Amino acid sequence: MAVGHRPVMLESSVAALGPAPEDSVVDATFGGGGHSRLILAGLGPGGSLVGIDRDPEAAERASDLMEDPRFEFVSGAYDRVLWAMVEEGRTADAILFDLGLSSFQVDEPGRGFSYVREGPLDMRMDPRSGTTAADFLNTAGAGELARVLSEYGDVPRGEARRVAREVVRRRPLVVTTDLYDCVRAAVGWKEKGGNPANRIFQAVRVRVNDELGSLSRALEAAERLLVPGGRLVVITFHSGEDRLVKRFISGREGRCVCPPELPVCVCGARPIFRRGEVVTPSAREVEENPRSASARLRAAIRTAEPPVDGT
Ligand SMILES: C[S@@+](CC[C@H](N)C(=O)[O-])C[C@H]1O[C@@H](n2cnc3c(N)ncnc32)[C@H](O)[C@@H]1O
Repeated sequence: MAVGHRPVMLESSVAALGPAPEDSVVDATFGGGGHSRLILAGLGPGGSLVGIDRDPEAAERASDLMEDPRFEFVSGAYDRVLWAMVEEGRTADAILFDLGLSSFQVDEPGRGFSYVREGPLDMRMDPRSGTTAADFLNTAGAGELARVLSEYGDVPRGEARRVAREVVRRRPLVVTTDLYDCVRAAVGWKEKGGNPANRIFQAVRVRVNDELGSLSRALEAAERLLVPGGRLVVITFHSGEDRLVKRFISGREGRCVCPPELPVCVCGARPIFRRGEVVTPSAREVEENPRSASARLRAAIRTAEPPVDGT
């Protein structure tokens, strides 16, 4: 049974978004609306908030906000929705991404995200489209499986290969405990460093939902939507997505990449974002909400320079 989602780094992320009363803000990952509600509380009558989520159940959780004329909910993947906004010529003063899953999703066995209780091997954030975790696990070759586990779950290569072989040997996998049993048979239970199934389930989920591809496209849309001085705030939960966001921002800080022997800069480096601070949750938040433990908040401020390809 889903019991609710406790927003991570709520105050610090809304402070980094710094919404002024008349601002247009986007919450690209509405979830249970914890961040959206605090943002709306700080907006005046002329402000607006677009909440986005690809999970159809998030739309139901947004229903109590639909009466608020400042609020609009858009159901869909954030990269598609943000690019549609770019094409409509819309702008934003602040955009938030609170990545990963909500507790509503993790705690519902029927969604297949958790090995704690048995459920179908689904793992799609939007169960209306795409292929399921079972489709992927039952059809991918052992090499592809091992690559996904090590790239998206930071699973050591040898371990990833052993789990991949076990998956192939035990096919077809149907329920979450089938995948969990593969992990137990291949790598056992490690006391130190946590349960290895965590990273395996994470890797499969990232692949099934094309999380890194979607995030990369969404950040490029955010670059175009944000007005000069606009704030980008991203809360990441694992190294793959954190690396992607860090590289996106640092690649747009305008650092000159000319060979040192050149007397003047010819690479045309322009600062498109100014990097903000990186914030992690307090010890108290981690104690009260262990799901916040791996969270890392990255912020950046848009300059007036045109986006990377100049469009
Ligand atoms: C950590 S939760 C957000 C929680 C929210 N900030 C709150 O306070 O309740 C992440 C949400 O983002 C959604 N999500 C993840 N990737 C998405 C994508 N590519 N497009 C749209 N929504 C996405 C998930 O469905 C999930 O509901």
